[in-house]
Amino acid sequence: MKVQMTELESALQNLWSDGLYKIILSNAIKKESEGAAYRKVVLNRKTNGWQAEQYTEKQVFHENLKADQVRPFVEQALEQAFRQCSGWDGEWEHTIRISKKRKVTGSKKRVAATQAPKAQTENNRKKHYLLEEGTIIPPLVDMGIFTAEGKIVRTMYDKYRQINRFVELIDDEIDALPADQTIRIVDFGCGKSYLTFILYYYLVELKKRDVKITGLDLKADVIYACGPTPMLRALKAYSQEKGILCYLSLEEKMACGIGACLACTCQTKDVDEHSQVHNKRICKDGPVFLAEDIEL
Ligand code: FES
Repeated sequence: MKVQMTELESALQNLWSDGLYKIILSNAIKKESEGAAYRKVVLNRKTNGWQAEQYTEKQVFHENLKADQVRPFVEQALEQAFRQCSGWDGEWEHTIRISKKRKVTGSKKRVAATQAPKAQTENNRKKHYLLEEGTIIPPLVDMGIFTAEGKIVRTMYDKYRQINRFVELIDDEIDALPADQTIRIVDFGCGKSYLTFILYYYLVELKKRDVKITGLDLKADVIYACGPTPMLRALKAYSQEKGILCYLSLEEKMACGIGACLACTCQTKDVDEHSQVHNKRICKDGPVFLAEDIEL
């Protein structure tokens, strides 16, 4: 049996107001085992539009709605999937109930002063996340905190809140810096930590500030390495390019191990005292050499 739309429209008319900030759709017509998509939907008003939290037994799915999409969304949900709708506007709690025979009734009661502000506070807190859900934020997508559509992955919600808290700490201070000057940041995570990418996104994309970030890795003063020759060759080239001191262990080739057979020699820049050629015995003179002293 179809709902009398005039009754439902009238009830929604009574519920709707500019102050409406939260709506809950509940009492699903079907159970999930009977094919219902969601057991409950919570709609919260946000800065630009609304957000629907759609609950299954184990998951929550978020959907952003424009302001003019909310009422049709609620109306369709009450027509097809739910028997109850509650809405809060700070002063009143409105309730629409639809009986099993699809009879629509509406009621309202004044909200206790201790209840309404609490709901509004929660609503406002969500608005204040600086990295807002529903926005495509590449570093959050790369980290698996947001889906490609900009929705929070539920298991990553704590990480999302932590990152927002970090950005809030920066935000508290950033406006004190002159707007016409470059902000210079030294990142001791070598410019590769995920918070650096978030910081860059926040300052450049959202705050439109001129930013220069320098990565500094204090652990890269010296390279020590052993392993296959191609890898050592690459490390030697890298160390020369970056100006990093590099020591390589060449113990890979050895025979007698006492400096007699010359099976372990490597080519060097200097002349070897023993053989009088550009060689060194790895077993006797090494096995660790300064990368710049040997040829690979
Ligand atoms: S292993 Fe024989 S000289 Fe080094």
